[in-house]
Amino acid sequence: MKVVHSKEELGEQIAEWRHNDEHVALVPTMGSLHAGHLSLVELAREHAERVVVSIFVNPTQFGEAEDFDEYPRTLELDKRRLKTTAADLIFAPDVATVYPLGVENATTVSVPGLTENFCGASRPGHFDGVTTVVARLFALVQPDVAVFGQKDYQQQLVIRHMAEDMNLPVSIITANTVREEDGLAMSSRNAYLSDDERAIAPVLFKTLGAVGQELQNGRRNFADLESKAMEELREAGFTVDYFAIRRAQNLEVPDRDCDELVVLAAAALGSARLIDNIVVTV
Ligand code: PAF
Repeated sequence: MKVVHSKEELGEQIAEWRHNDEHVALVPTMGSLHAGHLSLVELAREHAERVVVSIFVNPTQFGEAEDFDEYPRTLELDKRRLKTTAADLIFAPDVATVYPLGVENATTVSVPGLTENFCGASRPGHFDGVTTVVARLFALVQPDVAVFGQKDYQQQLVIRHMAEDMNLPVSIITANTVREEDGLAMSSRNAYLSDDERAIAPVLFKTLGAVGQELQNGRRNFADLESKAMEELREAGFTVDYFAIRRAQNLEVPDRDCDELVVLAAAALGSARLIDNIVVTV
């Protein structure tokens, strides 16, 4: 498995694969890889002969008060983890490679509507940073497919929207969330949890599951379900950002007849902001 840092080295490798009629899948990451990322790589391999994993902690998707500086950077460990997977190439560019005119002068890509609520509301500018970097990674790697995790449910919808609206020649694939044994969704930010917080953290998924069960049982008083769930999370020690039941397709407020719902939540334990969701088909 090769590791490249420059646009030129990346281009040479992609050109060679293209010359051999091989398809290319991209798994964009910010590194600090865990089993969830590795499952994205395996899924990517099912869709293309070659898999590129990008590792880039993207400055433009972090707000000023967020954890850009503290975000774990573990390239050597990530390389070792990827060696055991189907990844063919790690693309680990620096900021100047991704943003040649500098972050301040960068052309940005912005998806309206979908980005205004939930994580978009609590992290202003976050999704512009995500779509901007993903569009740039698509331009550099020119993948046939790209794989994103369902844990970042709103993110994968936003990226799908961008790709469709811009006619980007890439298929977006969403991979199931990988969980710890107690249900906690795997995330690089779980490393911020203290032992006490780690013990509480699975309550988030349990609460989502309980609401999912109520929906399966035919309950449709969405607002009541949401406020009861928020109360339970607060009682467990979370600071709740949002807990919402929405249409899975577009995050709009559902009516009673909607048959594909997503229950999505963001809640903090200390400095760790956890997000999770479940899709409920009724
Ligand atoms: O989900 C992530 O890790 C990031 O938002 C992504 C898609 C790699 C863009 O930086």
